Amino acid sequence: MLSYQHGYHAGNMADVHKHALLAVMLDYLARKEKPLTYMETHSGRGLYKLDGPEAAKTGEAAQGIAVAERLGWFPADHPYPRRLAEVRERFGRASYPGSPLIAALSLRRYDVMTLAELHPQEFAALEETMAPFRATVLRQDGMEMALSRTPPEPRRGMLLIDPSYEVKEDYAALPRFIGSIARKWNVGVVALWYPLLSGDPHREMMADLTRAHPDALRHEVRFPPARQGHRMVGSGMFILNPPWGTEDEARRLTGLFRSLK
Ligand SMILES: C[S@@+](CC[C@H](N)C(=O)[O-])C[C@H]1O[C@@H](n2cnc3c(N)ncnc32)[C@H](O)[C@@H]1O
Repeated sequence: MLSYQHGYHAGNMADVHKHALLAVMLDYLARKEKPLTYMETHSGRGLYKLDGPEAAKTGEAAQGIAVAERLGWFPADHPYPRRLAEVRERFGRASYPGSPLIAALSLRRYDVMTLAELHPQEFAALEETMAPFRATVLRQDGMEMALSRTPPEPRRGMLLIDPSYEVKEDYAALPRFIGSIARKWNVGVVALWYPLLSGDPHREMMADLTRAHPDALRHEVRFPPARQGHRMVGSGMFILNPPWGTEDEARRLTGLFRSLK
């Protein structure tokens, strides 16, 4: 039974971290004319409203993207605010893009996009959001989808893995899953998002991953909890084959997040 709904968390500081890096990676990959594959295991609904009851209930976007924009973290020519501006123009001022929409707006018509989402309502919303774009949207387990389509055609491209960690077994399954993907697709950019929660439940998973993939980029930022007692105190990205420019952006984000006190 899936209960996580990203609408309550869209635009929070973890999204700012993940989506800024995602937009930078896709922007770089799309500079070459060669076609790309984009796959996502846990897609969410693709488009969120920051003036709805979900965002109001948690206040996470107000502590996230609203703060980043007020502090001027992203210059106008950065790929992340460019995607945000496109989404606001198309869907209204209070709209916020999920990762599938950031990807769709970064890719070209000849690129290939496959998105998995298991939650029935999130899947229906994702299908509707992605209808104007060329994307295959599947109501399927994300890891199953990615394994069955790896190595993808075209070979150039990326896989985003963004689980909700509702199922505690995810922590143990992810190193095995990423190992299998990397063996079958050694040129793929494979990006895993993970939360930094009090109690560090990610510690063992990250020890396994860093041991198995010593050349990967591991980037973590910390931020004040969105509300008192909230367990999430930071955000991590673990990236195999990070495209050129990703490390520079990660370094820049480290400085920006450090300034939050
Ligand atoms: C953190 S949200 C995704 C957010 C999205 N990647 C973004 O950045 O906009 C995780 C999503 O994974 C979905 N989900 C959970 N288990 C899944 C599974 N086994 N396969 C595919 N989707 C799953 C949840 O319904 C939820 O919508």
